[in-house]
Amino acid sequence: MLFEELKPKVYQILNNNDQSVTDRLHLICKLLNDSIDYYNWVGFYFKNGDKEELKLSTYVGEETDHVIIPFGKGICGQVAVSNQNFVVPDVQAQDNYIACSLTVKSEIVIPLFKDGENIGQIDIDSETPDPFTEKDERFLEFVNQEVAKIL
Ligand code: SME
Repeated sequence: MLFEELKPKVYQILNNNDQSVTDRLHLICKLLNDSIDYYNWVGFYFKNGDKEELKLSTYVGEETDHVIIPFGKGICGQVAVSNQNFVVPDVQAQDNYIACSLTVKSEIVIPLFKDGENIGQIDIDSETPDPFTEKDERFLEFVNQEVAKIL
């Protein structure tokens, strides 16, 4: 299946030490965005130093104004404090949601842990309603675990 086919490509990208970490993360965003039709915006946010906020690292998709997101705000900010995956089948049904684009219907955010600490997340927006399953969660957890190894 598709996710199993993507795993070796994820390893290949992340283990290319000739490229910077940010370049490798960008290639991961591109791989996911290009390979999975319902992934329409893919990006990484990380904790901004000692501040209680997230800062957008690299991404593929429409430009966003939401480069800084305070902890607790939006889906991303909630994951920064909950340490839990957040799957949103319908973004319009969420009170605490930050809209990036009117075409986005759903979102998945998976926290990224380094040495047990929640240091960031992968965020994916979809223009398809309710597309995410547990297979997406398991795959994106795998991606984040592998990313953590190069940070
Ligand atoms: N929708 C997110 C904001 C980030 S954009 O999706 C790129 C949120 O509610 O946190």
